[in-house]
Amino acid sequence: MSENIRILISEEDIEKRILEMAKEISEYYKGEEVHLVSVLKGGVFFTCELAKRLTVPVSIDFMSVSSYGNDTKSSGVVKVIKDLDEAIEGKNVLVVEDIIDSGRTLSYLMENLKSRKPKSLRLCTLLDKPERRVVDVRVDYTGFAIPDEFVVGYGLDYMQHYRNLPYIGVVELNA
Ligand code: IMP
Ligand code: MG
Repeated sequence: MSENIRILISEEDIEKRILEMAKEISEYYKGEEVHLVSVLKGGVFFTCELAKRLTVPVSIDFMSVSSYGNDTKSSGVVKVIKDLDEAIEGKNVLVVEDIIDSGRTLSYLMENLKSRKPKSLRLCTLLDKPERRVVDVRVDYTGFAIPDEFVVGYGLDYMQHYRNLPYIGVVELNA
């Protein structure tokens, strides 16, 4: 069995969109600082590209979370693998994620962060699969809404591969 990657969103289109998002976000936080909380590992590529284009002062921290096995998935229980290094109390926190699928991970993460009393808390995602939503999550900035297909690249993986692709592609399995 081999895999083929079909390009869904080109590098050029992603960069154009990230610039637009960065302008909108910079405008929103004008006169303030923004503390980016990047969700490992997938959110890292997007976080860097976004951060480079923001015109307000930026600080960055990282968090890694993972869902428990399938049987407990419906409970929405998420495990913190790596917590933030710094406190976020009083900060303008912007969570930066690669993709929102069922919404379980982000719903847990946003509640967790909210309890730490940030000054403000918003959510930015490069990709969204709205059809797949199980848990409601308020998304403040979305790069692209995409159909229900499994995608890789720009941080997203298929069994830990393809994160480094500079575009978003769909994995096609050839028998
Ligand atoms: P959620 O909790 O179902 O929203 O899961 C979101 C997480 O599932 C993302 O952070 C990704 O790690 C992973 N994920 C969801 N859809 C895809 C995809 O199409 N490609 C790669 N990873 C995905
Ligand atoms: Mg992720």
